[in-house]
Amino acid sequence: MVSRPRRDRLGQLAEALERADVRGRGGACFPTATKLRAVAAQRGTPTIIVNAAEGEPLSQKDRYLLMGRADTVLDGALAAANALNADEIVIAVDQGFSAEAAAIGRAVRARPDLSRRGLRTTVQAVPSGYVTGQETALIAALAGGEPKPTQTPPYPFESGRRGRPTLVSNTETYSHIGRVARGTYDGTRLVTVSGAVEQPGLIEITPDTTMAGVLQSAGGITESVQAVLFGGYGGAWTTVADATALTLEERVLREHGLTLGAGIVFLLASSSCPVAEVARVAKWMAAESAGQCGPCVHGLGAIAGALEQLTLHGDGFRTCVQIRKWSEMVKQRGACAHPDGVARFVTTALTVFAAEFDDHAQHGGCGRCDDSTALPTPHRRRSTAGSDARRSGTPLLEIGSKAASR
Ligand SMILES: Cc1cc2nc3c(=O)[nH]c(=O)nc-3n(C[C@H](O)[C@H](O)[C@H](O)COP(=O)(O)O)c2cc1C
Ligand code: SF4
Repeated sequence: MVSRPRRDRLGQLAEALERADVRGRGGACFPTATKLRAVAAQRGTPTIIVNAAEGEPLSQKDRYLLMGRADTVLDGALAAANALNADEIVIAVDQGFSAEAAAIGRAVRARPDLSRRGLRTTVQAVPSGYVTGQETALIAALAGGEPKPTQTPPYPFESGRRGRPTLVSNTETYSHIGRVARGTYDGTRLVTVSGAVEQPGLIEITPDTTMAGVLQSAGGITESVQAVLFGGYGGAWTTVADATALTLEERVLREHGLTLGAGIVFLLASSSCPVAEVARVAKWMAAESAGQCGPCVHGLGAIAGALEQLTLHGDGFRTCVQIRKWSEMVKQRGACAHPDGVARFVTTALTVFAAEFDDHAQHGGCGRCDDSTALPTPHRRRSTAGSDARRSGTPLLEIGSKAASR
């Protein structure tokens, strides 16, 4: 068999991705073909990283794909590797997802095409954390360092893993690339629906799906809903009326200042106190900071502290004004977009729940504050200690040419 030159394979894949409008599913919705071409334009042998860190507590899709649709993810990683002449595929999985790491490991072992001459595929554990999945933090973690974002430029496409041009994309994005390569992509995406719904979990939607369609797939609501969060803890709140009027197409959502991010819809029940929910998540997100940029460390800490204050004692409207001011001040002031996400989450809450915030500012915590734990804030195991095989930077599984990527 005569193998096609890289330019040919690259052009074909990139054009197919463009035609299908495949976009990143890690949150930013960036066109995947553009990233592919940017990596190809660099000097040096590229590396492919499958981002399966899934640090967002409201997301389940990447774990599901590792367990249930591993082959489409691997098809995508391989198609990208072939198009770019990459010699390495690294699947980076949160160290807490051991069943998922084992499942993708089995799928890798069953695929001789992933260990062909000149290609090495590894599954590697990375420390749990919201920021670990940020692409430069992920690269640092894979190298055995702490999962902390690095200054950009250089961006991973220019100089990523081991200084190589690196394509870091989300697990679902690779699944879409795989389906495009196989000719089975139909434009659907996975959405994790949770909160006040009968059947929380994953649904698959088409771009024209409405909130009514989402609710129908999730078995309907369990009780009255006061607002909807799109895009998770770096996303935005909106009213039920506004959410109901929209189709969940990114273009439409973005026109309304919203995004599904990593594919997240959360419905907040009327029985929860939104101020307490937002305060708890903001505190958790502040603690998830990689702790290296002043505006992130101090700004998020101050915002979280002020929000917590509202759930304890009221002090007039000064606190709400301060929270909004600090949220504006932290935007674009970190080495990564973590503070921007928190600012969006908090400021949209101040708007959507204005009456509740005013009430807490005047009177302090309400009767619902203590019991409002609808939004998960998981306890993180900070240490990467454990068996050596699970240490950050150490492959859990390694197949293929040992000579590759050294
Ligand atoms: C704070 C923070 C956390 C992130 N966490 C994840 C994550 O857990 N998984 C992920 O795929 N992308 C995450 N991202 C986005 C990545 O940096 C990167 O944009 C993404 O992996 C690119 O893949 P895509 O083009 O397929 O979306 C995060 C970004 C930020 C700023
Ligand atoms: S902005 Fe925050 S999370 Fe991002 S690198 Fe700086 S300290 Fe870390």
